[in-house]
Amino acid sequence: MNNFIFQNATKVYFGQGCVKEYLSCLTKKAESILLAYGGGSIKRTGIYDEVTDLLSAAGKTIVEFPGIMANPTYQKVQEGAKLARENNVDMILAVGGGSVMDCCKAISLAARYEGDIWEDFWARPGVIDVEPLPLGVIVTVAGTGSESNGGAVITNEEKKIKTGRDYPKLNPKFALMDPTYTYSVPVGQMVSGGFDILSHIMETYFSEPDEDNVSDDIMEALMKSVIRNLRAAIQNPEDYAARSNLMWDSTMAENRIIKMGKKCDFECHNMEHQLGAYTDCNHGRGLAVLHPVYYRHIYKEGLPKFVRFAQNVWGISREGKTDEQLALAGIDALGDFIKEIGLPTSLKELGVTDKAMLKEIADSCGISAGSYKKMTHEEILEIFNECFE
Ligand code: NZQ
Ligand code: ZN
Repeated sequence: MNNFIFQNATKVYFGQGCVKEYLSCLTKKAESILLAYGGGSIKRTGIYDEVTDLLSAAGKTIVEFPGIMANPTYQKVQEGAKLARENNVDMILAVGGGSVMDCCKAISLAARYEGDIWEDFWARPGVIDVEPLPLGVIVTVAGTGSESNGGAVITNEEKKIKTGRDYPKLNPKFALMDPTYTYSVPVGQMVSGGFDILSHIMETYFSEPDEDNVSDDIMEALMKSVIRNLRAAIQNPEDYAARSNLMWDSTMAENRIIKMGKKCDFECHNMEHQLGAYTDCNHGRGLAVLHPVYYRHIYKEGLPKFVRFAQNVWGISREGKTDEQLALAGIDALGDFIKEIGLPTSLKELGVTDKAMLKEIADSCGISAGSYKKMTHEEILEIFNECFE
């Protein structure tokens, strides 16, 4: 394995009833709390009432910050930071999915920083010496794994850039994860989040080193778990075992454990993020369109791993197949699964209707150093064109 340093500062409280049991204790030191959430699902599901009742009973001042959109914008981050400063809050509580958690991570930094966090942090490598406002999260949808890392993906609408940074200081102090909170997620969003989990694992698995390493073994188990439990949760949205497995799969995919010793690719994420910056498409759905086509472009450079994927993840037998046929059968199985769970297979289905804009989007994509095959902007455009319809 390659050398690494590992730390994960987030304390996870997992399971049915965890919010009721632990929230008051976890917010004990805070007097004033910025309660951040999305477009209102938490009001419909009763999560909002549960959380505010607990905070009010503990005598907290609640400063509400609603309306965090999918693909959160830098403008929204600035709004939240202003509100946090004006009200002198001493903790942020993010209740939602990746969009709410990511926006709140950025707010926790922006609220404590005098300069422009986009220019000084998101847009360039390096760190800034700021202690972010303490952040706790209550997860309501499984997918990004944002609860367990310092990563935050923010869209700068003006510059048409959607990009993420992983800064260990932005790891939430605590994550409350009650799988029953995810029962109400609409099936379309559930499979999108599920595919995002699978994508995070594949983007790590399909990268060097390929010699025997425990991270690859863990990833195969995780991928099989995501596939099995997504199928079960589609059948029965209130299957606790399926929902709890998916919720923990999502954390396991992004809590840095499986990345140890791996180069990581994440080129599909680079491409999807820029599609998102230009078209505001849904993250997991965008990934579903791109992955099979991207893998048909790179499999020859990582052939043994694609063979292993076909056999160990999809259970495809070698029987009379060459390595190349086996690798392609694994990618086909992935494509079939995408169709089976109702995810889109073309950019058109994703809502991207203007083919002419694809060149500009392709040219704006970051190039991953960890891919089996280093992309060029020309090849990214080829992939986009192949995905178009
Ligand atoms: O906004 P509300 O009304 O709450 O509705 C949300 C939203 O419409 C709904 N939802 C959430 N919990 C629900 C629910 N509906 C019913 N019942 C519930 N319990 O689900 C919709 C999607 O929410 P969102 O937070 O946008 O989804 P997701 O968790 O997939 O997050 C996507 C964002 O995270 C970024 C993506 O790029 C995208 O911006 N990512 C963050 C990463 C990270 N920080 O590590 C890594 C990922 O690769 C990803 O890039
Ligand atoms: Zn993702």
